[in-house]
Amino acid sequence: MTAQKTAPEKMDETDVIDLLLAQHAMIRDLFDEVEQAPADKRGEAFSRLVRLLAVHETAEEEIVHPYARRAIDGGDAVVEDRLAEENEAKELLMRMDEAGPEASDFARNLAMLRAAVEAHARSEERYEFTQLRGHTSEAERRGMAAGVKAAEAMAPTHPHPGTESATKNLLVGTPVAMMDRARDVIRQAMGKNP
Ligand SMILES: [Fe+2]
Ligand SMILES: [Fe+2]
Repeated sequence: MTAQKTAPEKMDETDVIDLLLAQHAMIRDLFDEVEQAPADKRGEAFSRLVRLLAVHETAEEEIVHPYARRAIDGGDAVVEDRLAEENEAKELLMRMDEAGPEASDFARNLAMLRAAVEAHARSEERYEFTQLRGHTSEAERRGMAAGVKAAEAMAPTHPHPGTESATKNLLVGTPVAMMDRARDVIRQAMGKNP
């Protein structure tokens, strides 16, 4: 897989809904890649999946869900349900990370994680994004897409040429550490205090 395919910040989509749908497809592709990876490549592919999930879910939590809370009918309840799903997936991800890609139950847990993440993405698409598209202007959706991409560029899912040493420190460690780091850089990019 090329770096481009796991670089959500470099996607062409300028409407935030189109952008998030394309990222959901990217996540599905990366699950395929982890599932099909030979044993010696599995850990590396899984790390890329964890980084992509960390920046995607964190960008949604910091930029898209808060907007949906205000913009759509019953927004608070819709967003609370999505956050509960995201947390469930994160807990499983943490357990898998602790056990490592060599663990005997890795494939079974990966299948469970995939089912949870994909069900969550479908719920977002059905209950959140459709309404969000209907309740926002094109300019608002363009603005949100720019925000999501700027945030994701701050928390790259792969090293950029020439900046390896800087990015190496950025998103490494446990999934929780990655998500915390992604949240910090996204809040910085948005001009908020971490
Ligand atoms: Fe999400
Ligand atoms: Fe999502």
